[in-house]
Amino acid sequence: MAWFIIILLWLGNSRAQFVDITSQTEPDLEERLFGLLLRLKTEKIYDTLLIYGRDCAFPSLASRLQVPTVLVSSGSTNFEWNFSSLTLILSCDIQAEREENYRTLMKLHLARRLILLRGDFQPESVCDFYSKKDQYNIAMVKENFDQFGVVYSCRLFQDQNYEKINFSEGKPIFIEQFRNMHGAPIRTFPVVKPPQCMFYRDATTGEERYIGFVANLLNNFVTKVNATLSMQMELAKNGAEPSFVNVTNWAAEDLLDIGMSEALSSRMSNFDTISYPYLMSSYCFMIPVPDKMPFSEIYMAIVSPPVLIVLFIIFCIISVMLIYIQKKSWRALSVTSVLMNDICLRGFLAQPFPFPRHSSRKLKLIFMILGFSSVITTTMYLAYLQTFLWAPPVDPPMTSLADLRKSRYKMAISIYDADVVNSLNVSKEQVVVLGLTKLRHLRGTFNDNYIYPVTGLRWITFNMQQNIFAYPLFYYSETICVNYFDILSFPLRRHLPYRDLFEEHMLRQKEFGLTKLWLDRSFWVMLRLNHSTREDLSPPLRDDYIEVDNLYWVLCLYFAGLGLGCTCFILELITPLTRWGRFRVLQ
Ligand SMILES: *[C@@H]1O[C@H](CO)[C@@H](O)[C@H](O)[C@H]1NC(C)=O
Ligand SMILES: *[C@@H]1O[C@H](CO)[C@@H](O)[C@H](O)[C@H]1NC(C)=O
Ligand SMILES: *[C@@H]1O[C@H](CO)[C@@H](O)[C@H](O)[C@H]1NC(C)=O
Ligand SMILES: *[C@@H]1O[C@H](CO)[C@@H](O)[C@H](O)[C@H]1NC(C)=O
Ligand SMILES: *[C@@H]1O[C@H](CO)[C@@H](O)[C@H](O)[C@H]1NC(C)=O
Ligand SMILES: *[C@@H]1O[C@H](CO)[C@@H](O)[C@H](O)[C@H]1NC(C)=O
Repeated sequence: MAWFIIILLWLGNSRAQFVDITSQTEPDLEERLFGLLLRLKTEKIYDTLLIYGRDCAFPSLASRLQVPTVLVSSGSTNFEWNFSSLTLILSCDIQAEREENYRTLMKLHLARRLILLRGDFQPESVCDFYSKKDQYNIAMVKENFDQFGVVYSCRLFQDQNYEKINFSEGKPIFIEQFRNMHGAPIRTFPVVKPPQCMFYRDATTGEERYIGFVANLLNNFVTKVNATLSMQMELAKNGAEPSFVNVTNWAAEDLLDIGMSEALSSRMSNFDTISYPYLMSSYCFMIPVPDKMPFSEIYMAIVSPPVLIVLFIIFCIISVMLIYIQKKSWRALSVTSVLMNDICLRGFLAQPFPFPRHSSRKLKLIFMILGFSSVITTTMYLAYLQTFLWAPPVDPPMTSLADLRKSRYKMAISIYDADVVNSLNVSKEQVVVLGLTKLRHLRGTFNDNYIYPVTGLRWITFNMQQNIFAYPLFYYSETICVNYFDILSFPLRRHLPYRDLFEEHMLRQKEFGLTKLWLDRSFWVMLRLNHSTREDLSPPLRDDYIEVDNLYWVLCLYFAGLGLGCTCFILELITPLTRWGRFRVLQ
């Protein structure tokens, strides 16, 4: 047994020595590469290693680094890996990485790459090769790295497209090359759409400038990274006035780097060609403030049937009690004597009536009740009438599409929203489809026969504009919307190498409050650039005074009452007095 164990130990020992001998071939290179990887980790942490190719020192180094590692020896993945942005790519050779999976490529686009060069590849051609693929974070070492300690790192904005870095000197290997672009152009296209982006000519230098909360962000970015804006105006040569849809398409086709416009984000399924959301708002309708009730309808509106019925019942009860208490029997009661009760009628209309001389306490009590109810009803109606004539009640605001269908308004929309609105179950007659420019013009006139779609951001300026009117014309509906959640992003080129810088810049400007400032000021900028007007667009109030025909119903009832009175008087004259006697209850 002991012999067996000794043999086993000897076998294990000699195997270990054997392994030692085989890996002894390039121990120095491996050690130096290990040092390099540790150094890269301190420069900027990486949380995943992705190794393309085999037969090199990288795979065995990965296990020593204790970082999750993905080995792709075939050079391409056929699975959509969602690599983090902190992935470090190690390639065993320049040809080792042959990634073809689109989603994986997108994820790895900005990742840092370290390439082990074998054979005599010139760093210059390697950098060219990668910059053709829009990949700029490239560093490479040759196989003699252990002897000279030289790392080659691609550099974009300088004469020589790479830098030779002595590993022992401690210079950073990967740098943010796009932090200073040395005047390189950023291709863009402005879509003039107040208040996002407005054109003006600088008064002193005569330069063409763009201003607005979208334009400002891009202008500031260009200043920050020391680039220049190159307006691709030739794209608009053929075709109609380009809209943000065109610009989104152009960015997706790599004709632009960053569009100076919002992107058509609602139809995008991913963020490949649009930026992180810059602003969030809603895309709802602005609706005319509800109409006031016309003066002519007020009189009928305050006379509501239930109240009239209650008053009639009270009248009858008081009338019955009066007759019973006076006559002390039920025999005097009849329909005519109750309904045509002289005292009760006059009392209810707050008119003077004869007070019987020897009346009992009960009778006085009834008269008191009569007096009170007459005071209450007449003051109630008087108060109603006067209040409503002074400030007519308004219709309730619209809260749903059902309200819209019943209303007199039409929906003015642009061709881009036609699909969404068609799915909203609004009748065809109520929808007017216009071109974008026509719609904006109509909306700018505050024509209150229509309701208009408007983003929450644009509404800020409309609301400020109508604050200088005599009275507000529109309100912003939170419930009737084309899109309850609308994001404003920038159109970006698919492989924009400084996407991370741009998005960081965007968030910083917003965090600092600049975006809010631009939004708050946008109306005043629009005024200055003549995109808006100080004019009071509210029509003069039509029903600001009461005309005789507005009192139509009042006069009708007055003449009806007068006619009734005259008829009674004439009847009284021509018929014998005795027949009228039975109406005169109290004598
Ligand atoms: C990566 O993310 C996409 C969606 O963004 C998802 O469809 C896919 O399954 C994810 N891949 C993995 C491996 O989780
Ligand atoms: C790198 O720098 C060290 C000293 O910092 C120096 O000894 C060495 O020669 C340099 N190597 C190269 C290739 O220049
Ligand atoms: C910005 O770019 C110009 C070249 O267009 C360059 O001369 C200048 O030095 C750069 N500015 C900075 C701060 O690097
Ligand atoms: C913009 O796109 C529309 C269609 O979406 C097209 O009719 C128009 O010609 C385009 N404009 C330009 C300048 O390409
Ligand atoms: C569409 O509107 C009509 C009334 O105009 C209504 O009867 C119908 O139920 C609505 N359909 C849907 C799907 O809401
Ligand atoms: C402002 O625009 C109106 C038409 O919208 C035009 O009549 C007027 O001349 C413009 N004013 C200036 C100063 O450009």
